[in-house]
Amino acid sequence: MKEKRELSNFLTEKIRGIVNGKLDRDGKLKAICRLLRDNVSDYDWVGFYLVDRKRENELLLCSFEGEPTEHVRIPFGRGICGQAAKLRETFVVQDVSKQMNYLSCSPKVKSEIVVPIFKNGEIVGELDIDSHTLSSFTNEDKAFLEKICGIVSKLL
Ligand code: SME
Repeated sequence: MKEKRELSNFLTEKIRGIVNGKLDRDGKLKAICRLLRDNVSDYDWVGFYLVDRKRENELLLCSFEGEPTEHVRIPFGRGICGQAAKLRETFVVQDVSKQMNYLSCSPKVKSEIVVPIFKNGEIVGELDIDSHTLSSFTNEDKAFLEKICGIVSKLL
């Protein structure tokens, strides 16, 4: 457990550095995706969806690391991403085969977490992580990723 906490602290500091660094917004989001995917063994696909400013109740895929997905646009309410956006809450699914309202990106995916990003009380985006392992996401992952989304909120 201690190792994971140390890793979370290390990655949180790295992410603060990226957010305050010189890349443009999408470059920063991409660097955060890469950092998380490369350093956390069960994070197999990591991406940021942003709320589309033109069509308010729709999410648009921005930066990601992992296999390309057909789910580039997701209306609020659809799939795990859309449900998290509608509920404005972190959504953890430990076994995606048991989730009826689910948009599959790859048959390899077994569990998923979606964390909303808020700015001035409004949802502006989400961090979405897929895992090829069942029950990958613990309460520690949830707390860690919610903290990261609080930091990333500055960029949006
Ligand atoms: N599985 C998601 C769709 C996005 S992909 O995981 C990249 C969902 O059900 O909303």
